[in-house]
Amino acid sequence: MSDDQNAFLPINKEIEVAEGVFVRRRELIYKGVASIGLLGFASILNNLQAYAQTTPSGLTSFNDFLKEANPLTKSLIEDTSTGGQDRYLHALASHASKIESVPEPVSWNDSTQSFKPGTFIGFTPGGENFTVLQWRLEPNTEIRLHRHDYGNVVTVGLNGEANVRNFELVGDDVDYSPGKTIKVKKTVDQQLTRGSVNLVSLDKNYIHGFRAGPDGAHGIDITTRIKPKPDHGTPYLGVSDKAEDEFRQIYEAEWQE
Ligand SMILES: [Fe+2]
Repeated sequence: MSDDQNAFLPINKEIEVAEGVFVRRRELIYKGVASIGLLGFASILNNLQAYAQTTPSGLTSFNDFLKEANPLTKSLIEDTSTGGQDRYLHALASHASKIESVPEPVSWNDSTQSFKPGTFIGFTPGGENFTVLQWRLEPNTEIRLHRHDYGNVVTVGLNGEANVRNFELVGDDVDYSPGKTIKVKKTVDQQLTRGSVNLVSLDKNYIHGFRAGPDGAHGIDITTRIKPKPDHGTPYLGVSDKAEDEFRQIYEAEWQE
């Protein structure tokens, strides 16, 4: 290493590589900035330390994820009880949360799950027992709240930030007639960032929706079908802004088309 190289300090910089998709890139800054004084230098070191605490480590490639997850899920998929789904989802998530990046899909298609354009879905092959769908949300767009009633889901954040909410029905009425008023319970309200995970089983957290922040968001849904596809289409849900019971997070809601 030359003296010249020693004159530089590494920093990490976040750069937008596509609309709403960010990568963290390592760059060098000239050490001479330390001449601004000991205080300035200490500040730089503090910033470097902060980056070191937030930069993920122990990541695996998508191919290595498939090598681990395909045999693992084969052994766990048969138990579709509530506990069996929990075990399946947590086991799958423990590998999925380490994925460094996912190959670009052949095509990005409109999600059809949004009131306005700007939400996209792309299929990524390789799952034997599950389907990997990438989703990409432009800034301030939304995937509507919808129910899963035949496949469970592991969601993993890859870039950007999205608010994810999960709900469950109060009671077991499964009449999805549009306009029908029901009660739901919010079970999760989460800021999904890189490497964070949100789980949907057929018995828990089975209604979910996503709202992207000002930087957009990118992630994957790993879906496993464990029941036959029902005759009805995807049930969408509209939820009141204000909780009817704040502590229990009970809301009035209605099914929508
Ligand atoms: Fe979904």
